[in-house]
Amino acid sequence: MAEGYQPTKAAALDRDCTTLSRHVLQQLQSFGQEAQDLSALMNRIALAGKLVARHLSRAGLVEDALVFTGRTNVQGESVKRMDIYANDVFISVFKQSGLVCRLASEEMDDVYYIPENCPIGRYTLLYDPIDGSSNVDINLNVGSIFAIRQQVGDDANQTGDDLLSNGRDQLAAGYILYGPSTVLVYSIGHGVHAFTLDPSLGEFILSAENIRLPNHGPNYSVNEGNYWQWDDSLRDYIRYVHRHEGYSSRYSGALVGDFHRILMQGGVFLYPGTTKQPDGKLRLLYESAPLAYLIEQAGGKASTGTQPILDVVPDKLHYRTPLVIGSTEDVNLVESFIQERIKEGV
Ligand code: AHG
Ligand code: MN
Ligand code: MN
Repeated sequence: MAEGYQPTKAAALDRDCTTLSRHVLQQLQSFGQEAQDLSALMNRIALAGKLVARHLSRAGLVEDALVFTGRTNVQGESVKRMDIYANDVFISVFKQSGLVCRLASEEMDDVYYIPENCPIGRYTLLYDPIDGSSNVDINLNVGSIFAIRQQVGDDANQTGDDLLSNGRDQLAAGYILYGPSTVLVYSIGHGVHAFTLDPSLGEFILSAENIRLPNHGPNYSVNEGNYWQWDDSLRDYIRYVHRHEGYSSRYSGALVGDFHRILMQGGVFLYPGTTKQPDGKLRLLYESAPLAYLIEQAGGKASTGTQPILDVVPDKLHYRTPLVIGSTEDVNLVESFIQERIKEGV
């Protein structure tokens, strides 16, 4: 065959073209309908990330971005303007998509339906629009967490009861970390991959592929201000790390940022039950389960302290559980203190 045109082999050009939507198709090794759906879903989540990142970057300058709305959400938590803005961004980006019929969010009491996408749209997006809201007004890192599930049945009675299943039913999960750069981390069951937003392109470009965390790491991340409210087993663990060399305490107040450090460097994040919140603070369906999906894909572990997070079946949309997540050996160490106390019958 005559020598045809030979495209540039520049690695930089190819890297800049490795966008999220292309990467999903590469991961699935398919151009079929489900692969195209997931590629389009991730592309719209990327758009949501760009819109939230833009709003955050100007939060101190625009009227409707900072401080509280004066409302409290179903969690009983004060709602920030940024929570509502981000919540509505994720709804808007899926309008006229034919992809997502339903959304379930930390900021909405019940499941929300996008009429034109139902019943054709067979996917549900579960999300925490802004995680770490307390950091918004002080310009520290926050995130968005998401999980994608298939809609089972037609949910005609619009209760979303089919969502009350364990985390192994998740098709995809990830988060967007709004930090010095905006990073989107996701998995569709073929490893964990990170994309960094290139503002000059307006695209998320592949920056780390097949992320694997070490079996042990130096970081332990927990709000020690709750020490007085914990079971003795967690106090035993904290006393252990206080007395042994090689541990660093790192806690930002935003789960996504603390999780990202654990994913990249190893260690463990904990949000145990407390006397005030015996089931812990973090919500299963749109905080712990998506991150548990990711950590298992990256070779780590996530548990309630006694049960794998991905095995927990919630009985309501905003179900909470304690969370211990990170490097396998570090999670096992926390669990060993819990088991010790159970054996002692305390
Ligand atoms: P959200 O802002 O979505 O309510 O999440 C906040 C969570 C989580 O991001 C963080 O790890 C935790 O709350 C911090 O709680 P404490 O302030 O009680 O430590
Ligand atoms: Mn959160
Ligand atoms: Mn939130």
